[in-house]
Amino acid sequence: MTEFSFPKNFLWGAATSAHQVEGNNVHSDWWAWEQAGRVQERSGLACDHYRRYKEDFDLAVSLGHNAHRFSIEWARIEPAEGAWNDEALTHYVDVVRALRERHLEPIVTLHHFTTPQWLVEQGGWLNPKIVHCFARYVERVAAALGDSVRYWITINEPLVYIRMHFIDGLGPPGLKNLKDALQVTRHLIYAHAAGYYALHGAPSMRHAPPRVSIAQHLPEFWPCRRWWPMDHWITSLTDQIFNHAFVDALRDGRWTVPGVATWELPEARQTLDFLGVNFYGRQFIRWKPMPQGWPGSSCDLAHHYPREVKERTSLGWDVHPPSFTHALSRWGHLGLPILVTENGTYMTDDARRWSYIRRHIQAMAQAIRRGAPVIGYCCWSLLDNFEWAQGYGPRFGIVNVDYATQRRTVRESGHRYADVCRRNAIELNSA
Ligand code: GAL
Repeated sequence: MTEFSFPKNFLWGAATSAHQVEGNNVHSDWWAWEQAGRVQERSGLACDHYRRYKEDFDLAVSLGHNAHRFSIEWARIEPAEGAWNDEALTHYVDVVRALRERHLEPIVTLHHFTTPQWLVEQGGWLNPKIVHCFARYVERVAAALGDSVRYWITINEPLVYIRMHFIDGLGPPGLKNLKDALQVTRHLIYAHAAGYYALHGAPSMRHAPPRVSIAQHLPEFWPCRRWWPMDHWITSLTDQIFNHAFVDALRDGRWTVPGVATWELPEARQTLDFLGVNFYGRQFIRWKPMPQGWPGSSCDLAHHYPREVKERTSLGWDVHPPSFTHALSRWGHLGLPILVTENGTYMTDDARRWSYIRRHIQAMAQAIRRGAPVIGYCCWSLLDNFEWAQGYGPRFGIVNVDYATQRRTVRESGHRYADVCRRNAIELNSA
C-alpha cells in the first residue's frame, strides 16, 4: 500500500449553494416555481443556513477543511430591479469574514441555478438585458467583498442549467425548446465574460487579482452500444456540445454548435483563470431518431445502462472512478489549474457514500500523478439539502440534517473525509 501526498496548500472542503441550504429565498425564480406547485416539495427553510452559517463553518473546520464553496444569492442582493439590498450584501461580507476567521478559503459562486424572479418576468436568460444586469450585480458584489475572495465561479454548470431549465423543463422557466436553449447559452457565455471583466476590473481587487472560472459539469460520455456506429457518433457529438463548446468559447472566443453554426464571441476570449470541474460519473448515450432536445438526450441517463455497469448510486447514476482520472487528465491538458468544485453522491448506505468519495479522491490522486494540475477538491455537499426538482429525498451531505429540528450530525463519511483532509494524503491501493 502506498500513500499519496497531495501538493502543499491543496484546498480541501465541501460545497453548498444558496437556494439549496439557506432557506426562505423568496425573491428567486425557484421559489416562485415551487409556490406555483411545479415541484412536489418546496425548499422552505431548507437548512436555515442563512442564520446558521457560523455553526456550519465550525463543523467544516472541525472536519479538517481549509476551503469552502458557497453561492451568493443574486435575488437577495437585488430583490427588485435596481433595488439593492445592503443588508443582504453585508450578510455575505460577514459570511466571507466568518470563513476567513476559520482559515477556510472562500470559493464564491455568483449564479447557481437561481435568478431573481423580477428578471425572469422580463424574459430572464432569454433577454439580452440579463448580461448587463449580471455584470452590474457582480460589480456590487466585487465592491463589497473585494480581494477577501480569490476564487470565483461565475456560473455553475451552464450546460446542466440549460438542459434542466430550458430543454427538459424541470426548473423555471420550464421551457423545452432548443432554439431558446441556444439563445440562453449565448447569454450565459456573455454573462460569464462580463462577470470576468467586472471582477478583474474592480478597484477592490487591485492588490490581489481574482481567479475566475465557471464550474463545468464534465461527465465522461460513453456509447451505450459499442457495436453501433450511430451511438459512437452521437456520443462524440454530445461530448462536443455538452463538455467542449462552452469551455472552448471562453478559451478562444469561438462558439461552435456542430451542425448548426460557429459564432465569433471575441469578448469571451481568455476568460478562464482556472477550470472548476464538477464530476459525478459516466453517462451513456444512445442514438434514437427524432430526438427531443439534445440529439441523443433521449438516452435517459438513468435507464439505458449497458450490462457492464456494475455499480450505481441510490439515484441510479453510474459509479466509475476511473472516468474521473480520465476526465481530470484530459482537461488538465488545457494548461489551466483545475479545482474540483463538486464531487459526491447520494447513497442510502453511508459506507457506500464513503467508498464513492474515497475512490474518487484516489482517482484524482492518479490524475495528479499523471500530471493533471489539480489544486483542490470540494465534496458535494457539506449538508444534506434541497435537491431541486427531487426535493429533500436525496441526501448528499457528509453531515446529516434533521429538517424538523435543524440538528446536524456528522456522518461517518464526513469523519473519514476529515482524515484525508488533515493528512493531505490518501492510501492508493486499499480495497
Ligand atoms: C450538481 C449541482 C448541485 C447539486 C448536485 C447533486 O449538478 O450543481 O446543485 O444538485 O448536482 O445532484
